[in-house]
Amino acid sequence: MGFAQLSRGRSRRALALTLCVWSLISLSCAARLTDSSRQKLDVQKHLNRLNKPAVKSIKSPDGDIIDCVHISQQPAFDHPYLKDHKIQMRPNYHPEGLFNENKVAEKTKERSNPQVQLWHTNGRCPEDTIPVRRTRQEDILRASSVKAYGRKKQRSIPKSADPDLANESGHQHAIVYVNGDKYYGAKATINVWEPKIQQPNEFSLSQLWILGGSFGEDLNSIEAGWQVSPDLYGDNNTRLFTYWTSDAYQATGCYNLLCSGFIQINSEIAMGASISPVSGLRGSQYDISILVWKDPKEGHWWMQFGNDYVLGYWPSFLFSYLADSASMIEWGGEVVNSEPDGQHTSTQMGSGRFPEEGFGKSSYFRNIQVVDSSNNLKAPKGLGTFTEQSNCYDVQTGSNGDWGHYFYYGGPGKNPNCP
Ligand SMILES: *[C@@H]1O[C@H](CO)[C@@H](O)[C@H](O)[C@H]1NC(C)=O
Ligand SMILES: *[C@@H]1O[C@H](CO)[C@@H](O)[C@H](O)[C@H]1NC(C)=O
Repeated sequence: MGFAQLSRGRSRRALALTLCVWSLISLSCAARLTDSSRQKLDVQKHLNRLNKPAVKSIKSPDGDIIDCVHISQQPAFDHPYLKDHKIQMRPNYHPEGLFNENKVAEKTKERSNPQVQLWHTNGRCPEDTIPVRRTRQEDILRASSVKAYGRKKQRSIPKSADPDLANESGHQHAIVYVNGDKYYGAKATINVWEPKIQQPNEFSLSQLWILGGSFGEDLNSIEAGWQVSPDLYGDNNTRLFTYWTSDAYQATGCYNLLCSGFIQINSEIAMGASISPVSGLRGSQYDISILVWKDPKEGHWWMQFGNDYVLGYWPSFLFSYLADSASMIEWGGEVVNSEPDGQHTSTQMGSGRFPEEGFGKSSYFRNIQVVDSSNNLKAPKGLGTFTEQSNCYDVQTGSNGDWGHYFYYGGPGKNPNCP
């Protein structure tokens, strides 16, 4: 082989290589193009599913748009089992309390003030409509996929009975719980804060859990409280939220009204809307109260916010275990730690202070109660506590006449004792 031939051979190979690289680039470009246009279509379809026609829309100071949607057009009615559902405008029974809320409210008026939602400053929804926080394109694009939007990423239930597995998902808790009986609901008054979140894919929440079944694949859970979740809402505001699942966060359930399931009847309170004001260090303390209970007649799980707002219900058919009763109730805080290699996030739980600092600094749950089989609110018996790393987030229980069973909880996350 002469020199010329050799170099021609080389240049032919080079040409082939160049062509190959070119076609690889254009192939992947084409693939990317169809992917992105398919995604756009999926996002648009999902937005059309979630955002129902509005009778009226209200712009909230935090940038949210609240759509007043006719009650019969809400997302719940996309569910095939709810096509012929006759909406129930009030529960048949309401549990009777241990604590007369009005009396408690009077006593604590100086330090606990009633809560409103921020969007109320710019208007209210008319009768026969429900307020729905509008989902925007960018809300869905922040999620890892269209399907993942509005759902919890992993199982996030503290396995109090099995602490070995507690670290698996990066979720950390400081909670109080009862189990070993049949429960028909739970109530708590929850102190509201705005914890700092280190990274947008983390969150911090304070809530109650109504749990049925075991911590296996078919766990049933109803959850309600407040949360800060930059990925879900696009900001650091504290928001009222609910969650439900009937298969341990796999295929069923979602936050708020982001899938069909919960039937809302209330025209004043929007799920996922900002709560304002929030508590300040050594300043005014603001509380919300949440009651979830099972209507003994129809078997639906109802939710009430504050003393005045019955929000609506989760129909009994959504659940397996919870169609009968709950086997465990939990109250407390949860954060996601997304730091790798045993490092800890500085995402705060509650006020970001440890429980021992007490009123005005630490966050709390007070008057925690359970609903028994006779539909009465009772003090919980045999409270247990659970944390994965009490040096990061901790919990301390107590009881007295005004606050019934209560606990302080929370913490700063990363600190010298929680590296
Ligand atoms: C949320 O808070 C983090 C810091 O805690 C900040 O970096 C981020 O810009 C905030 N996001 C918004 C939308 O305000
Ligand atoms: C969780 O992990 C931390 C360190 O990453 C460890 O100190 C702690 O003991 C673990 N907790 C449980 C309950 O396994």
